[in-house]
Amino acid sequence: MKTIALIGSPRKNGNCDILVNKVIEKIDGENEVFFLNELDLRYCDACQSCQKGDCVKDDDVRNIIAKIEDADLLIFSSPIYFGQMSAQAKTIIDRFYMISQNQERSLAGTKVIQVFTQANPSEAFDSYIKSMETMPFAFMGMEVIETISAKGAAGKGEGIEEALKKIEELEI
Ligand SMILES: Cc1cc2nc3c(=O)[nH]c(=O)nc-3n(C[C@H](O)[C@H](O)[C@H](O)COP(=O)(O)O)c2cc1C
Repeated sequence: MKTIALIGSPRKNGNCDILVNKVIEKIDGENEVFFLNELDLRYCDACQSCQKGDCVKDDDVRNIIAKIEDADLLIFSSPIYFGQMSAQAKTIIDRFYMISQNQERSLAGTKVIQVFTQANPSEAFDSYIKSMETMPFAFMGMEVIETISAKGAAGKGEGIEEALKKIEELEI
């Protein structure tokens, strides 16, 4: 199984980092983990070049999206920032446009494990996280097979016990 993991938090050893690596430990096969914050990750310009062929951006995302196309599983993680995914995470999602607009390319069939972390202990963001299953993932033909959501996770390593337990029990 080929796995690509994207960490949408800028914090090394933070909650997304810890949880993603715990998921990775459960999976056999090749894996690559990327901190989005460390990449040359540029915004979609909406230039529509991808409709005629290829994305014109020559940044790291071009390679990462090609790796996701080739992978069996995407682990997509983000902290909740102001009720939504981080800007780093959203920027790469917008670049999925280069696939959705090109009939020769597809992410269909790729499984997804979502990992979200938030300081708020309530279920306030559950509907937002749930909506990710439809847009962007089902829209791209991808299937969310698990969602790990750590609530009350403020400081690094705080409040993630339940999420770690859920990962421990995952059968992938
Ligand atoms: C800019 C910013 C905005 C945040 N907004 C929220 C929020 O709206 N709701 C919430 O529960 N936590 C919020 N947080 C807290 C993070 O979601 C939380 O600490 C998360 O576990 C961090 O994950 P990390 O350790 O992987 O960076 C915010 C943190 C930052 C830095």
